[in-house]
Amino acid sequence: MSLLIQNGRIISEHNDFVGDILCEGEIITQIAPHLETPPDAEVIDATGKYVFPGFIDPHVHIHLPFMGTHAKDTYETASQAALVGGTTTLIEMCCPNREDEPLEAFELWHSKAAQSACDYSFHMGVSRFDNLAESQLREIVKRGIASFKVFLAYKGAFGLADEELFATLSLAKELGVIVTAHCENETLITALQQRLLAEGKTGPEWHEPSRPPSVEAEGVHHLMTFAELTGCHVYCVHTSCRAALEVAQAARLRGVRAWIETVIPYLTLDKSYAEQPNFEGAKYVMSPPLRDPSEQAFLWSAIRSRLISTVATDHAPFDFAGQKEMGLHDFTKIPNGIPSIENRINLLYTHGVCRGQIDLNTFVDAASTQAAKLFGLYPRKGTIQVGSDADLVLYDPDYRGKLSASTQLMDVDYNAYEGWEIEGRPSTVVLRGQIQSRDGKFVGELGSGQFLAREPTHF
Ligand code: URP
Ligand code: ZN
Ligand code: ZN
Repeated sequence: MSLLIQNGRIISEHNDFVGDILCEGEIITQIAPHLETPPDAEVIDATGKYVFPGFIDPHVHIHLPFMGTHAKDTYETASQAALVGGTTTLIEMCCPNREDEPLEAFELWHSKAAQSACDYSFHMGVSRFDNLAESQLREIVKRGIASFKVFLAYKGAFGLADEELFATLSLAKELGVIVTAHCENETLITALQQRLLAEGKTGPEWHEPSRPPSVEAEGVHHLMTFAELTGCHVYCVHTSCRAALEVAQAARLRGVRAWIETVIPYLTLDKSYAEQPNFEGAKYVMSPPLRDPSEQAFLWSAIRSRLISTVATDHAPFDFAGQKEMGLHDFTKIPNGIPSIENRINLLYTHGVCRGQIDLNTFVDAASTQAAKLFGLYPRKGTIQVGSDADLVLYDPDYRGKLSASTQLMDVDYNAYEGWEIEGRPSTVVLRGQIQSRDGKFVGELGSGQFLAREPTHF
């Protein structure tokens, strides 16, 4: 069976032209201004639509035991939400706790993903480093994992001691594995939290003051020092502010191999959302926190200049009722995270492309191509080329609609963007030649997503 997409405006990281794409089996076999229709082909008229490569979300949480509860989605709900929103590949953070064995955790996360409708991989969380962990991490890399994840925050849960951080980065360097890192100074966070609570400051509006930009910048500086001394390639996840970006940029200028991610909440929301009354602000508690709105202009300009390589979600869904409410009397107990896997592309298109912040090629580069390149998926994913997987998003720029918890596929009881207008959405989403979504409806098959084994490239 083949699929011919006709007359779309084909946008990759570099290209922008009107033409046809032929998909045969799972891959793209021809691209040209005009192609003859093969006898057995299903034809989609893409006139007036963009054709983007399938988008990649390189920072997602689905199975996440965290802060005394579990993130809400399963692969069944999250992968459908991803596909309807234009994301054909996700990379989930496999986050074992300190007492867990890495290999057991990897197998557990793997088993949860069996029902995925979209393609997926994992960043392997390293929450302890000893002889057993080292040998199991070596085995996990052999099984197709080319990236680790470390937390410099979350004392007592995922956070690594400095000796362990040094050993992890040294191992990663030897194996050619890139290390993704949550950068905040956990000692400062604990001290500031205690001070605020002692002053009776218990609401969600105090989350940001407990983790100011300097705490994040210090975390980035810490990581950069360790990266410089080990030669390990590092990737700062969910970078929220200018202070942190400038530390990373300075390190890059002196030769540290560092890449930077931001996430859609920092580009579209700000700390005033977490200051809303009646505990509504809890819906907007994530770490690092939503910042002052003045940070956003710098984030956008860093995407334009490509200092920020990727725009992910850090999708971390916790219900307001029963989960966020765990922190009703103490903001440090509010499960951290904002769900957005379904909404990232439409928000980035609306607030990035339509508002003139980024052009279409940068949009594709930041939301797909760079993640593929950094994490060992390119050119199978992240581009539109002959021989690449036929992962394609036909995007309708004339669509107008509103985001709402009442219509979303994400399994969580609120949408952080309730009522927000979007100016475009995927009309057809194709994964390896199969149509997965049409006009906001999932039409694919659960369990048809593939685990993407990756080779290390960061030597
Ligand atoms: O608040 C956040 N970011 N929650 C998810 C866990 C993490 O730190 O990435
Ligand atoms: Zn994090
Ligand atoms: Zn995260």
